[in-house]
Amino acid sequence: MHIKRISAVLITGAAVVALSACGSGDGGDAGTTTLRLAFNQTEQHPQYIAAQKLGEKLEEATDGRYTIEVYANETLGSQSDVVNNVSDGSVDMMYIGGPVMESFNEDFIVFNLPYMFDSIEAQHAVFSNEEVMGDLLSSIEEDKKITALGALYAGVRNVYATKPVESPDDMDGLKIRVQESDSQVEMLNLMGGVASPMGQGEVYTALQSGVLDGAENNETVYNALKHDEVAQYYSYTKHLMIPDYLLMSTQSLDAMPEEDRQALIDLIPETIEEANAGFLEFEDESIAKSEETGAEFITDVDTAAFKERVQPLVEESINNPVREALYDAVQDANAEFPAE
Ligand code: GCU
Repeated sequence: MHIKRISAVLITGAAVVALSACGSGDGGDAGTTTLRLAFNQTEQHPQYIAAQKLGEKLEEATDGRYTIEVYANETLGSQSDVVNNVSDGSVDMMYIGGPVMESFNEDFIVFNLPYMFDSIEAQHAVFSNEEVMGDLLSSIEEDKKITALGALYAGVRNVYATKPVESPDDMDGLKIRVQESDSQVEMLNLMGGVASPMGQGEVYTALQSGVLDGAENNETVYNALKHDEVAQYYSYTKHLMIPDYLLMSTQSLDAMPEEDRQALIDLIPETIEEANAGFLEFEDESIAKSEETGAEFITDVDTAAFKERVQPLVEESINNPVREALYDAVQDANAEFPAE
């Protein structure tokens, strides 16, 4: 037991030295530590741009002691792989989709349930309320050494496929990719299709080869990852408004001197604001580009029928006091910020 612990510490130490060396290789100060941030989407994504800016601001705030290098396009691996590296401290930071967090603490499920948030404003009100979010975000620090720095808007997810989907009947027999968690599998099956969980990077090829008939995601992924070329119909089922989280290795965070750590933490709210604001514009651009490639956006969808189908999942998932409290907070926010 002790030996295990000691070797873990030594490995972490080695990783920190390696990181520092890599930072100095950037032409920065010999004392610059480069935090590696893993991202599974493109350099055009507002979350990428916000993370780059965070790096610049962090460098300034820490007099060059810390900076961030963002690795886009899944170069460090799929989210479900990289999160283990964040846990062991070999990757410092990452953006991650909400469902993958369920494997660490199932209470994250609340925000991943279908038709949970009535508006972006309602979601924002919940995510910016520290009293509501604090315990959840720090819930896996002790066990998994992962600190969730905050939750971000990640679009509204809709079904896209090789044919239009206007009602649950249209989903019959369609193999649809979902994010990797039980809640997403159950949701999609209840919607009438056949769920196929996999990492984002595998989806294009699976669509192209016919292993999948479709997927569900926001418009930005649909266009940026060229899914619009292989699944022409994007139907507004509006079934999810799932967050992304910005994660940090608790070990990397603890390794920072108090003042630098605080500087980083202080920069998080504005980083999230920037990413969220950029997202809406990115959505519009993505729709326009997909339309140019010949994709069709279908708005005449029976969302009420889908909502009714998935209701059992919502009911069975709100099954402990933590989830009830989060659920109630969402309902309060929905009452304050209803759908337009
Ligand atoms: C969205 C989300 C990502 C997630 C992806 C997915 O793009 O922002 O965090 O990985 O969907 O479906 O895998």
